[in-house]
Amino acid sequence: MTQLEPHIFFNSNIDSPDDWRKALATQFANFSFSVDGDVSRPESVDIALIWTIPDGGLERFTNLRAVLSLGAGISQIEIGRLPKNVPLTRLVDPSLARSMVDYAKAAVYRYHRRFHIFERQGRDSNWKFIPPTFTSATSVGILGLGVLGREVALQLRQEGFKVLGWSRTPKQLDGVETYTGRSGLATVVAGVNIVINILPLTDETRHILSRELFRQFADGSCLINMGRGAHVVEADLLDAIDAGKIEAATLDVASVEPLPRGHRFWNHPSILITPHVAGISDPTTAVLTVAANIRKAMAGEQLLQQVDLQRGY
Ligand code: NDP
Ligand code: OXD
Repeated sequence: MTQLEPHIFFNSNIDSPDDWRKALATQFANFSFSVDGDVSRPESVDIALIWTIPDGGLERFTNLRAVLSLGAGISQIEIGRLPKNVPLTRLVDPSLARSMVDYAKAAVYRYHRRFHIFERQGRDSNWKFIPPTFTSATSVGILGLGVLGREVALQLRQEGFKVLGWSRTPKQLDGVETYTGRSGLATVVAGVNIVINILPLTDETRHILSRELFRQFADGSCLINMGRGAHVVEADLLDAIDAGKIEAATLDVASVEPLPRGHRFWNHPSILITPHVAGISDPTTAVLTVAANIRKAMAGEQLLQQVDLQRGY
């Protein structure tokens, strides 16, 4: 317990303020905790712990020291609405990484063991044998080898899958073939049965999963999107699936969330939608890095996991 008395402003429509208040109480003997709509003395707020910027903005917190994202991704925070010269950090949490790995494994095994085909056959009472294969026969390409992508790559490798990975800067990962650049991206998507996207959403990666890239995918490959909906050009994905180029897709994220009723992804026989559940952070573990950053911000030190606003992640 530290004797700091930070004033923390909290805003999220998906995270529980009560759970976060309790978690923070394990780290700070005294602190103030304000939830949007309930902020007295805005000038005393030190830290904004947020999923999104509230409608009223953050400018009223004239002495703000840091904005801490409640997500690993920060694309839901409009960078242009951040107060100038206040650092932004993203969330790194072992529970979040663990749940991303679980999700990736579940989605990969569903394709590897052809459950998606058996689900379809079952609807027609069709008992048709498809010979199973070992994991070494299935290759997985991972776009994004950061905190989360790297963990997914290593864990799938451990399961025996052949794993290729793509990142902006070169990486060395045990047993994983790694690539960079546009030609590296083409090599990865052309060389695997399953492509998993775990990129951050930036100007460079928006709509990266488009017609041009799908053309370079191996015929009959599957896509798992765990990054952000706007990585995908949705009409191009539907065309690639309907043309048989892509066999099936698992989409945890959508360009508009919740995915609107009537969207063509719903009820598509080759698309599985999950409601942005791949990575769930647990305040009881995530609070450790959040508290470390609060202490650093209060001491005027360099923060952990600070977002490079030029780079966008
Ligand atoms: P990191 O910032 O740790 O990693 C990002 C990775 O993407 C890095 O390997 C980076 O390359 C690579 N990258 C970024 N831009 C490019 C580019 N232009 N070309 C090639 N590679 C690029 O992020 P995390 O791993 O923590 O999170 C990744 C994303 O996962 C989040 O931004 C979010 O969108 C998504 N997410 C989704 C969740 C869900 O529930 N669906 C939950 C949590 C996160 P380099 O290593 O060279 O910098
Ligand atoms: C995200 C998260 O960035 O849930 O999607 O952390």
